Amino acid sequence: MQPNSEASQRIATIAAHLHPPPLQVSLNWRVRSQDRDDLFKINAGIVRTLCEGVAKCCPRAIVNLISNPVNSTVPIAAEVFKKAGTYDPKRLLGVTTLDVVRANTFVAEVLGIDPREVDVPVVGGHAGVTILPLLSQVKPPCSFTPDEINHLTDRIQNGGTEVVEAKAGAGSATLSMAYAAAKFADACLRGMRGDAGIVECSFVDSQVTDLPFFAIKVRLGRGGAEEVFALGPLNEYERAGLEKAKKELSESINKGIYFIRK
Ligand SMILES: NC(=O)c1ccc[n+]([C@@H]2O[C@H](COP(=O)([O-])OP(=O)(O)OC[C@H]3O[C@@H](n4cnc5c(N)ncnc54)[C@H](O)[C@@H]3O)[C@@H](O)[C@H]2O)c1
Repeated sequence: MQPNSEASQRIATIAAHLHPPPLQVSLNWRVRSQDRDDLFKINAGIVRTLCEGVAKCCPRAIVNLISNPVNSTVPIAAEVFKKAGTYDPKRLLGVTTLDVVRANTFVAEVLGIDPREVDVPVVGGHAGVTILPLLSQVKPPCSFTPDEINHLTDRIQNGGTEVVEAKAGAGSATLSMAYAAAKFADACLRGMRGDAGIVECSFVDSQVTDLPFFAIKVRLGRGGAEEVFALGPLNEYERAGLEKAKKELSESINKGIYFIRK
């Protein structure tokens, strides 16, 4: 094979990612030395390549996109699918379940009940201030003091950092991510099977705000996100959080879109 042939370049690329150190750098986020920009630089290209493969080989697949930064990788995937003529907004779902799992756990701790009995809508996006827990809409209905609201919001938004710090340099924020991914994939499968009332939060193409993508409750069905729910009534604290979230989200979404359109 000629060293410059297209095939050998492809093999070189794959080999580079099979070697353990680049793999760690390429896909694990929240390793201490990395910031979100480092992660974007590497994962953006990987997501583009994988989505080109999806468009070619399984264009009707319901895609659960978990690679970070989700706020940018979902717009990247959408652009790739649009270019390929296969984009169906209902079939592209950014996985934000980990934020909901954390929110349910932390709220349950405060309420002194089982996390499985708690439902906290977490909207916006999947990084820092873009993660917006709607504590006024928790089920079962409950109320929190201002201190509890500050503490819970901060803990939910920075759950990943808490895990990284607890590991003290021994790894990334892997706690519960497989559980969250499995929970979301299972919900999608139940929706595809035709089960009724399957509702999860997900980062999707939506008109909920003036942004093209937003994490929000969706009803999962045979065709993916068949219904996108409204935000519902927000209190003043949440409205302020939404403005902050939208500012950062807008930049992250545009970064993803520009990566493909440039
Ligand atoms: N959305 C979420 O809630 C959430 C939570 C945690 C982690 N993540 C993200 O999930 C991703 C995976 O994290 P992980 O800890 O499982 O990583 P990992 O390193 O354990 O696994 C990565 C997988 O990707 C494969 N891979 C590597 N390079 C590739 C390439 N060029 N093309 C195709 N496949 C390639 C590897 O073979 C491996 O199977 C990361 O982007 C991480 O940031 C998302």
